[in-house]
Parts: sequence; C-alpha cells; structure tokens
Amino acid sequence: MSRLSLNQLRKMKAEKNKIAVLTAYDASFSHVLEQAGVDIVLVGDSLGMVIQGQESTLPVTVDHMIYHTANVIRGSDRLFVITDMPFMSYANIDQALHNAARLMAEGGAQMIKLEGGAELVELIAALTQRGIPVCGHLGLLPQSVHKLGGYLVQGREASAAEKILQDAISLEEAGADMLVLECVPAELAKKISEALSIPVIGIGAGADCDGQVLVLYDMLGITPGKRPRFSHDFLADCGHIPAAVSRYVEAVKNGDFPTAEQQY
Ligand code: KIV
Ligand code: NA
Repeated sequence: MSRLSLNQLRKMKAEKNKIAVLTAYDASFSHVLEQAGVDIVLVGDSLGMVIQGQESTLPVTVDHMIYHTANVIRGSDRLFVITDMPFMSYANIDQALHNAARLMAEGGAQMIKLEGGAELVELIAALTQRGIPVCGHLGLLPQSVHKLGGYLVQGREASAAEKILQDAISLEEAGADMLVLECVPAELAKKISEALSIPVIGIGAGADCDGQVLVLYDMLGITPGKRPRFSHDFLADCGHIPAAVSRYVEAVKNGDFPTAEQQY
C-alpha cells in the first residue's frame, strides 16, 4: 500500500507540517495533484455543482461518488483519498454502514466524510468501530443549505462558536480521525485545531488549521459566478495548471495561504 496513511497525516499535525488538500473528480486531475505534492484528494460532493451544474450538493448520489472516486484512484498511487457521503446517505446507522462500505469497497476511498456534529456521535462510533475511517465536517454544512438559509459564515456569535467547539470534541471522542472546518472565524478554527489531536483541515477557516482544502475549480478560477472570498485563483498567477497546483501546495506548506483577507 503506497498511499499516504492516517498515521503519516497525524504525524504531520504533530510536527506542524501543513497538510495540502484539494478536491478532484477524475483521473487526469488526480495525477496532476499527486505530481504537485498534494497530500490528500477529497472527492467532494461539490461535484454536484462543479461537474454536474446543480444548484447545490443535494442531488448527488452514492453511485456518483463511487464513479468519481474510482476515477480519482486510477489517476494516482500516493494521494490519501477521502470521499464525501452524499446528502441522506447516512440518515441512519444501517444506511451509513452500507453506503460507506460501498464507497470504500467499490470506489476505493480510504476515508469517508460526513457533515454534522454531536447528533452523529453514535453513527461515527459504529463506522469507526468497523474499520471505516471518518472525517467530520463542521461550520458551514452545504448539505444543510436550505436549513441554514444560505452559504453563510457560521460560529460568529459566542454561543454558536462554543457549540462548534463542543461538536468538534464530540466527533474526535466518537472516533473521527480528521475534521474539515468550513467558513468559520479564524480565531475559532485556531482554538479547535489546538484542542483536537486529529488533523483539522480548513476552508475559509484561517491559516491556523493543520491543513487547507479548496475546491479545485475555484483555485483554477473557472467556477461560474462569484469566487468565494476565502479562495484564490492560483492559475491566474502561474498560467499553467500543474504550476498553479504546485504553487497552492507551496503556499499552504509555508503559510502564505490563506492571508488575512482570505479569512473571517
Ligand atoms: O465537497 C467539497 O468539495 C467539500 C469541501 C468544500 C470541503 O466538502
Ligand atoms: Na462536500
């Protein structure tokens, strides 16, 4: 098994080496990411928006995620591969076990990611106890966009921030081995990254997380519509895709990305 392991990723956190993560959905980009020194590829359900042209991630299915994960796997040998569990594919424990097993056995994922806090504690324990590594996802939860009322920064008020911190602790205690924090104030993300022993990967969460993730097409400047404030068009700086990805990796590793203007 030549892929990066969870132990190596934990060691990176312990040694304060930043973890560079990007999304990808196909073999060609997976290969580019690997060549550029990316550590983790996330097969995100953002593919609903950037690949399928949907308005949200909600229409994405487990079969879509398996298809794209298998393609990403074929393009790389060394990347650590995380796949999102799509909307409602983990509504109860039996469903979660069944669908996570498919993403791993048929897709080839090394870890699955799911959105939510303390309400997922039992479900995460069930998955991890059966050998399925779990990445949590807190802050802005795109699968809950209709409940949240939009793609908005989360955890700005003290009580909301405290809830996210407590959720993060609960997820680690339940057995999660990684956490994504999306669109939360940098100060809160720093506190959570320090409180947890598992790697915390931020997107719109400031520079003090253990690693950074962006949606690939955002950092290449080709996402239709307005680019999120926390993103940056690395292709505009470099003029060629492999160089843009290498520049991103370098910027994450040396702490140049994100800057103060690219956080909340
Ligand atoms: O689906 C996705 O791309 C994600 C990242 C934004 C973290 O979940
Ligand atoms: Na996602």
